Amino acid sequence: MRATSLQSVFPQDTNSQGTLFAGTLVGWMDRCAAYAAMRQARGNVVTAAMDEITFRIPIVKGDLVEVDAIVETIGTTSMRVKIDVWRERIEDGTRELCVIGHFTFVAVGRDGRPVAVPQATT
Ligand SMILES: CC(C)(COP(=O)(O)OP(=O)(O)OC[C@H]1O[C@@H](n2cnc3c(N)ncnc32)[C@H](O)[C@@H]1OP(=O)(O)O)[C@@H](O)C(=O)NCCC(=O)NCCS
Repeated sequence: MRATSLQSVFPQDTNSQGTLFAGTLVGWMDRCAAYAAMRQARGNVVTAAMDEITFRIPIVKGDLVEVDAIVETIGTTSMRVKIDVWRERIEDGTRELCVIGHFTFVAVGRDGRPVAVPQATT
């Protein structure tokens, strides 16, 4: 399962260097990855861990930011989601892979306790 989202970087999303604030981007990544995990779980999920995030290339004001999340591995109640973040320069359409993350989500029931995840990938 996967999910994608598109954002553009507004001035209020940037830090004093004029680049995208990491905390804002991590929020976008968390949401998009959660949607991929919810599609897999067909229910609610919680973020259990942000295992790894690598910031390779800065993203700047005016860039389009595409977040692409895919469920890579499925456990009994947990899912590991890989997140690629691309920036697109609107002037010429060039795209660069800027950030890569791996987050773990756990499917939960109404009581907030872990529940089994369907194994089907379609
Ligand atoms: C995530 C949570 C539901 C796990 O509950 P738990 O009682 O520890 O559950 P278990 O020990 O039975 O583990 C359940 C699954 O989560 C996985 N897991 C738990 N903590 C993990 C961690 N830190 N990293 C990776 N996987 C983790 C376990 O490996 C297990 O996977 P599996 O069923 O596929 O084998 C619980 O810790 C929790 O509610 N945490 C707070 C979540 C939260 O507030 N997130 C932010 C807002 S969404």
